[in-house]
Amino acid sequence: MDSRCPGFHRLAGADRLALVEARLGLPAGGLAERLRPEADAAGPERRSEDVVGPLVLPFSIAPNFRVDGRDTFVPMATEEPSVVAAAAHGARMLRDGPGIVTTVPPPVMTGQVLLAGATAPDGPAEGRLAAALPGMAAAFARAHPALAAGGGGLRAVRWQPSEEGVVALLDVDVGRAMGANLVNDACERLAPALEAVLGGRAALRILTNWCDRRVARAVGSVPLAALDPDAARAAGLADGIAMASRFAAGDVARAVTHNKGTFNGIDAVLVAAGQDWRAVEAAGHAWAARDGRYRGLARWRRDGDRLEGELDLPLAVGTVGGAVDGRPSSLAALAVLGILDDRDAARLASVVIAAGLAQNLAALRALAGEGIRRGHHRLHARAVAAALGATADEVDAVAALVAARDEPPDRGAVAEALAQVRAGRRR
Ligand code: MEV
Repeated sequence: MDSRCPGFHRLAGADRLALVEARLGLPAGGLAERLRPEADAAGPERRSEDVVGPLVLPFSIAPNFRVDGRDTFVPMATEEPSVVAAAAHGARMLRDGPGIVTTVPPPVMTGQVLLAGATAPDGPAEGRLAAALPGMAAAFARAHPALAAGGGGLRAVRWQPSEEGVVALLDVDVGRAMGANLVNDACERLAPALEAVLGGRAALRILTNWCDRRVARAVGSVPLAALDPDAARAAGLADGIAMASRFAAGDVARAVTHNKGTFNGIDAVLVAAGQDWRAVEAAGHAWAARDGRYRGLARWRRDGDRLEGELDLPLAVGTVGGAVDGRPSSLAALAVLGILDDRDAARLASVVIAAGLAQNLAALRALAGEGIRRGHHRLHARAVAAALGATADEVDAVAALVAARDEPPDRGAVAEALAQVRAGRRR
């Protein structure tokens, strides 16, 4: 499967879907069918409280991605048009050779049981804790037979001192789930056993979103020629991107924006796939400050005629559970990713982290070059022109005209440009 689609952005939405379905070998119309119910007011009613109507976000598909040697289309849900265009551009620059290469560790999430008033365990208490582990694991497995059958379950119990007493840490392999419900269940279910072994009172029983055992990583290598066909300009851009990366490593104000841009890509995939993006954001920002200073998450350096990039952050995603199965659009996202049948959560994590790396590359490529204003103007002008009834050909011409004028693409300016394009064609 080839995820490159020149001219993809010029197609009508239905034609884009048809193209993706054909490339993925999906039944014609299947994706549209899954996306339609999202606008149905009866759908969201069942999914939250006090619902008065749906909030519909554009569901986009970014082309060009190559992740771990396999091409993939990437579902993205965001209100910011430049995000999807930038992701596709970043992915195009990164698709040379193996493309983006990721590593995703086993899905182990940790829960905290705060045992207030407990004292740090001595040797015998440590022995009792180790001896209690199989019984706790068996009790948890009985409560979650499907997880146990798939190889998941309680893996370890650790502890840490706390000013309030002792914190027992439960490491749970959550399989293909995001894991919050499973880990919270482990904490509440096993708290009495932990009290019995370690003493104190279980005052708090909850997962930590600081899932530092689930740190996913993406690396990518960009030939300088992919940045610009002109060798001198390409070298300048590579040096500029590397400098922007160093700047984000040392300057907190810049690091926040650098990471915001990276999360533009990460969040859009998470939202499309029905994931808990707040959890990923919280963990990601804490990860960015793990050495005591908030830093840029994605890093770039120039190595001769290549630009080398990397991104890592804790990534708790899941492909089973109510949040995914209850939303047809999330299932459409899994279908676009080719993981609807096997529910490969590690593949989802790989694509999410890859989208973050591509997004950051595209942002830095723009910032090190012409800036982001013209690109934004072009995209906005396209949207306004389409709303004014411009044809696909006219949309491109209008966007080019508006961007060349370097004026804000308000409705009046776009209407005028459209009239000019039409007049030119009549001549
Ligand atoms: C805008 O949504 C994102 C950027 O500001 C990211 C960045 O500055 O790296 C362009």
